[in-house]
Amino acid sequence: MTAQFEEQPSEAQIAVHWREEGYVYPPASFIAQANGTDAGLFERFSLENFPECFKEYADLLDWDTYWHTTLDTSNPPFWRWFVGGRLNACYNCVDRHLRDRANQAALIWVPEPESEATVAITYRELWRRVNEFAALLRDYCGLRAGDRVTFHLPMVPELPVAMLACARLGIIHSEVFGGFSGTACGGRIADSGSKVLITIDSYYRNGELIDHKAKADEAIEEARKEGVEVEKVLVFRRNPGQYCSLTPMRLGRDAFVDEVLLDYKDAVVEPVSMPAEAPLFLMYTSGTTGKPKGCQHSTGGYLAYVAGTSKYYQDIHPGDTYWCFADIGWITGHSYIVYGPLALGTTSVMYEGAPTFPDPGRPWRIAERLGVTTFHTAPTTIRMLRKLGPEEPAKYAYRFKHMTTVGEPIEPDVWRWYHDVVGKGEAVIVDTWWQTENGGFLGSTMPALQPMKPGSCGPGVLGIHPVIYDENAEEVPAGSGKAGNICIRNPWPGIFQTIWGQPERFVQTYYAKYNRDPKSTDWRDWPYLAGDGAVQAADGYFRILGRVDDVINVAGHRLGTKELESASITVDEIAEAAAVPVVDDLRGRAVEMYVALKPGITASPEIEAKVSAAIEREIGKIARPKAVWIVPDMPKTRSGKIMRRVIAGISNFTAVGDTTTLANPEIVEDIRKQVQAAKYARGTVPAELTPEQIAEIQAFGSVE
Ligand code: WTA
Repeated sequence: MTAQFEEQPSEAQIAVHWREEGYVYPPASFIAQANGTDAGLFERFSLENFPECFKEYADLLDWDTYWHTTLDTSNPPFWRWFVGGRLNACYNCVDRHLRDRANQAALIWVPEPESEATVAITYRELWRRVNEFAALLRDYCGLRAGDRVTFHLPMVPELPVAMLACARLGIIHSEVFGGFSGTACGGRIADSGSKVLITIDSYYRNGELIDHKAKADEAIEEARKEGVEVEKVLVFRRNPGQYCSLTPMRLGRDAFVDEVLLDYKDAVVEPVSMPAEAPLFLMYTSGTTGKPKGCQHSTGGYLAYVAGTSKYYQDIHPGDTYWCFADIGWITGHSYIVYGPLALGTTSVMYEGAPTFPDPGRPWRIAERLGVTTFHTAPTTIRMLRKLGPEEPAKYAYRFKHMTTVGEPIEPDVWRWYHDVVGKGEAVIVDTWWQTENGGFLGSTMPALQPMKPGSCGPGVLGIHPVIYDENAEEVPAGSGKAGNICIRNPWPGIFQTIWGQPERFVQTYYAKYNRDPKSTDWRDWPYLAGDGAVQAADGYFRILGRVDDVINVAGHRLGTKELESASITVDEIAEAAAVPVVDDLRGRAVEMYVALKPGITASPEIEAKVSAAIEREIGKIARPKAVWIVPDMPKTRSGKIMRRVIAGISNFTAVGDTTTLANPEIVEDIRKQVQAAKYARGTVPAELTPEQIAEIQAFGSVE
């Protein structure tokens, strides 16, 4: 580790050294049946035809009132799509399919225990359940259009039913991932001002029946601390008639949904015609600073965008059996398990449990049994299934025609296993790049029209025009081999409307950096900053490097360094904390915490354990750090800012980069010796990083 030059290649050098992967072409059998086979599509969605091109997506929906203005830019960057239009999202996902496919399964739910029967819910049955639940929300809870409701639900069919029931009434739902802690849920309840929490007593995960209702009490406690009083808690029961939680039901506040529903049997609730611009839901995600942000998605623009991208990029046909193996607690599940697929009237599969339970053949058994045609998951799941059961897919007679990867960069060799072994060489793959904020895909190949390239998501999708800017807002040309900040030149219907309750933060985080004139009402002056580093090859395909802000992507779950650090300093002994990503074989990235102790406190394994426990309590198990390093001090700039990229370099055994701007450069070497010696001793030294990974670690935290 002496050759300075080799240790610290510039981004340009890194990019130049990347091996360009060759193209992989879609099979003829896929092309023969694809939705998107007309190359004229690209012309129709070119920048010259913006924004009117998106009419094509909006026309996939049924409108109560057609809109008069496709895009209103008068209050930038708060874009308004399909202004004047009215529609109901639930009607579009359920009612309108009753004529042609009432008896087709809308949802197929696979419980985790293999001894339990799979449940098929037809469009007619879904309609009935949604109506009854909507009646309960309206009449028992007193909820109206514009009210917010928080769900803390795992992968059970009650979740999409509840989402659609809210949509039917124009109630804004805010689903919190079931794996998040009660405290994390409480913070989101308070931020959204929800008076009703919808939860479940228990669910299965890895063979264990998890007591979930316990988290509701923690959530309500936290919400109360933050000034919001939850009035009603609706509790589903995982096993009909049995309450499987140790937490008592609170009289007057908690109610079993199945009991209350008896009063609403066969109720019919008219869908409320909502303005296209009415919010449909909030989805909280981690940001650079402060608390999670409630991304507010619209009704008309969002639904049009997920329907359009589901049609062309997921290649969904009503007759498909489509399985998106993600959690509805994330944006992927909202857009590509529930709203997109159901808007198109297909059959969407949901699985309750863990990918490798009871063995790594499970997903392929499900696929075989249900005749899944279209499969969608994240690199972290693919890596895990490859590690634990590389030969498993070959043992089952399923046949996929289309597969998706989403959520993190996929390594070319993982991509090849997905293609050759999971897809049996017969399925086309789309590597879809996008974010919670975006509603739907931003980068992907059009599966029948553009070849795949392992490790690259492809070009911008229809109507999305990405560009890479350097720090001086100069365009980084395609094929230059240089990395920079990927942005989108134009608005699109799926973009979120604002951060709930924080419009200034919305403008600041996503638009301020490259805005050319804050007064301009020309959308061309407002590129959207994604917060990812990327490089564009000469053919226009993008390779996403990962986050350049202070967000760590663990197994496709975004965790903000600030949240991890705030959780750590709830431990009395801790004075300061910094979170950094480390490259992890299975999860892509894992979290390592660096903490400094208050004066007079001595380091101990107990303190390390307390930090882990605090993170699990405040955020959830997924955020548990891989290591907690108690260090004498943090490397800081003269203005007192912790240089996370320096310690990220130490954790990953990459170059720490320029330390000349530090107020205490001598600390770097001390920390490096301490941490790297411990990693040698524990046998947790990472394998050599790829150039992409090095670039990501070196850029970590470079965008504020
Ligand atoms: C990363 C998930 C590379 C990226 C839909 C982004 C990806 C963050 C890809 C958003 C991909 C997502 N290739 N990186 N195909 N898809 N990412 O909000 O860093 O949970 O900014 O949305 O995941 O994560 P989020």
